[in-house]
Amino acid sequence: MSSQTPSSPPVERRKPRVKNQPKDYGWTLYLIVISLILVVGFIISHGHPFKPGDKVGYNLGLAGGLMLLTLMLYPMRKRVGFMKNWIPLPKWFKWHMVFGILGPTFIILHSTFYIGSINAGVALICMLLVSGSGIFGRFFYTKIHQGLYGRHASLKQLQEDMYGSGDVKSIFSFAPVIQNRLFEFHEYALDTLGSSGAGKITPWKFITVGIRAKLLSRDLVRALEEAMYADAQQKKWNDAQLVQLDKLFYQNKAFIRTYLTNIRDIAQFSTYEKLFSLWHVFHVPFVYMLIFSAIWHVIAVHMY
Ligand code: HEM
Ligand code: HEM
Repeated sequence: MSSQTPSSPPVERRKPRVKNQPKDYGWTLYLIVISLILVVGFIISHGHPFKPGDKVGYNLGLAGGLMLLTLMLYPMRKRVGFMKNWIPLPKWFKWHMVFGILGPTFIILHSTFYIGSINAGVALICMLLVSGSGIFGRFFYTKIHQGLYGRHASLKQLQEDMYGSGDVKSIFSFAPVIQNRLFEFHEYALDTLGSSGAGKITPWKFITVGIRAKLLSRDLVRALEEAMYADAQQKKWNDAQLVQLDKLFYQNKAFIRTYLTNIRDIAQFSTYEKLFSLWHVFHVPFVYMLIFSAIWHVIAVHMY
């Protein structure tokens, strides 16, 4: 603890850049409410309170169908020239996801949980596949973008974030064990990626690196606490010194967490990029099938 006693001048260090990814409670709550509506709808539909073709059922179908049409404005806004200056893209994306769940909910209620024709059945299954896969797409998307509404991240920028937040050697000079374990994890997670960071990691490492980072972070924060406070207790530091020590402890703790999270993100980045483009390949054909079968269904129900 020699280099960082409270009596020595505070070390000038850049604040660790904690990734700005707030927990998505709003989204989780939204999914819970939608699930409850579907469960209640399913129970009620046993009593046949309405049919897909009568006033309530028809309007549910119409509203759901309009929501599905509205959500298609997002991919159009990305591509169609004259729409490029309309409202910022993140807003369209947000409504794409909101209607991507709400629209199918209305349609399911409209169907009264019953399939009676091939065209409606195909439309319903494609819709469920597209909407369900959207949830995975959303997850992959956040892994390669800066949050849900940020720009596309790059490996270079992730690396800059990691190395720019401080130097492990100087920050943990008082705790060589922590220093070594951080270096070991860096070596383990990134050894096969090469200097550009774009190489491959094994599927096993891809799956487990996040858990290992979490466990290590917990261990190291404990070790940090011991290393920093044991000395203070022995020397019976006063309150003012302890307040400074607390500050330094929280800074170091944040550094450990950010550093390990950044390593995890760099290790997983290229694989997530590949998964995201694979997801696109899966998502898009079902969107076309959904459009054709839904149009077919709407024409058919109005013809007979
Ligand atoms: C993706 C969109 C939609 C899906 C997946 C869907 C699905 C269904 C399903 C499963 C049924 C139950 C009976 C059957 O299978 O034929 C049905 C019935 C019906 N739907 Fe839709 N629907 C959609 C959109 C719409 C829209 C936008 C309208 C009207 C504008 C509509 C009007 C109707 C009507 C009138 C019936 C009753 C048909 C009958 O009783 O023979 N649907 N729909
Ligand atoms: C039936 C409902 C849905 C339809 C028809 C639909 C359709 C589409 C289409 C056509 C694209 C554009 C693909 C491209 O740009 O190449 C897209 C992208 C995307 N959708 Fe959906 N989607 C639906 C529901 C959802 C849901 C529920 C979510 C998330 C919860 C979601 C998340 C995404 C994401 C993350 C992208 C990629 C965005 C990007 O690359 O810019 N989608 N969707």
